[in-house]
Amino acid sequence: MNEVIKIFGPNRLKGDIRVSGSKNALLPIIAASTLVDEVRLQNVPNITDCYFMLSIFRELGGNFTWLDNQTLGLGFSKAKSDTLLLPYVTAVRASILFVPAILFAFDHCKIFLPGGDSFSPRPVNYHMAIFEEFGFKCSLSKNYLSINRSRRTPNRVTINLPFASVGATQQAILMATFFRVNTEIFNAAFEPEILDLMKFIKSLGVKFQVLFSRKLIRVFPAKRSKPRKSHIFKVQGDRIEFITWCILGALCGDLVRVTGYPVKWLKRPLEVIHETGARIKVESKDTVLVKTQGRIKRVSVECKPYPEFPTDAQPLLAVLATQCDGNSTITDTVFPSRFSHCEELKKMGAQITVKGNSLTVKGPTKLLGASVLSHDIRASASLIVAGIIAEGETTVDGIHHLKRGYEKFDEKLRSLGANIFTMEQEVDHFC
Ligand code: UD1
Repeated sequence: MNEVIKIFGPNRLKGDIRVSGSKNALLPIIAASTLVDEVRLQNVPNITDCYFMLSIFRELGGNFTWLDNQTLGLGFSKAKSDTLLLPYVTAVRASILFVPAILFAFDHCKIFLPGGDSFSPRPVNYHMAIFEEFGFKCSLSKNYLSINRSRRTPNRVTINLPFASVGATQQAILMATFFRVNTEIFNAAFEPEILDLMKFIKSLGVKFQVLFSRKLIRVFPAKRSKPRKSHIFKVQGDRIEFITWCILGALCGDLVRVTGYPVKWLKRPLEVIHETGARIKVESKDTVLVKTQGRIKRVSVECKPYPEFPTDAQPLLAVLATQCDGNSTITDTVFPSRFSHCEELKKMGAQITVKGNSLTVKGPTKLLGASVLSHDIRASASLIVAGIIAEGETTVDGIHHLKRGYEKFDEKLRSLGANIFTMEQEVDHFC
């Protein structure tokens, strides 16, 4: 049996929704929990990627307990293994952030190449360059990465990132903290999830200087290695989930109140949704009201690192564009081939042309229910959003991707009035 999501559309949505804790903030924080003896994490989403990271954490010698549905107690003393050759490692990209804890304990490490969404080639060369700056030599084989000490860690480290990579910025912060080396990260990424990691590490005594205009982060680590016990940290809300609800509100919201994320960090995405003509009202510092407004104006958007429009919301924006008046263009400069959702949306009637790293979406198009397959987390959410506005029955397969990053997505949609169900479906076996 295989789980699929079925939607009977079109639906109008109305009501209040609160976003869950952020996957992209949580995963690095689980890796950073190897820095402390004990930590209590609050606002933890129940998603598969969290379980994968916890399994790796346990394999390394850590322990964890669910204290309630959203609170995790984690304990760690020292990495007990120098190898991470587990299937979970290939399932989640953030697994590479456990390397600093292993190198700190053993001065060498062997790890499967990290996985995660496979929408684009996802090399680890920036991570390797960071390990090398800290005195290690890396060798890459087909499936794994070996890292060995080759010289002493210098007293100061300077990292120059070729691209403002989220994972590489987090890696540099973790290496600086473990090895207690003053570190400068040029061309750093500033996604709010990185700010959450810095906030977590700051409470361990590490100091940061963040020079946004120079795209520079300076890390001044603490002198002690295990600075604090019984540390409590609340994971920030999910930025991309917040945008997902706002896009749904713009498409088919009678009035949707979205809450649980600082609106000041959503300037560009909310601006884009507002430009389409949707009614958006900021109700408080973490709440907006969104309502559809009949005719939707076309968009022209480039997805870039924060504070620009996020690549993670690009598949959702593509669905909004199908309802816009005229030709919309969306360019993804972060993952230039992240377009697996387009072929599926075309099965529903969308008129999309992919050229290089850009999409042209002709609208407005009446979408019709179809059987579609999702290939990654955000693609699954976008296909569900398309199913909500489509006429008739839509079946979305591959929803294990959805469950990696969205907590109770179908349940939340039902609470807003959507006709959506998760069902078991027989798998056809061909002999
Ligand atoms: C993180 C997010 C992901 C989001 C992405 C961009 C997590 C768990 N995942 O992924 O949801 O889509 O940021 O906002 O937080 N690159 C290299 N070499 C490297 C590392 C990256 O070439 O060693 C390239 C990538 O191929 C990509 C660009 O840099 O083109 C940005 O990737 P990056 O910011 O590192 O994404 P992730 O941290 O993997």
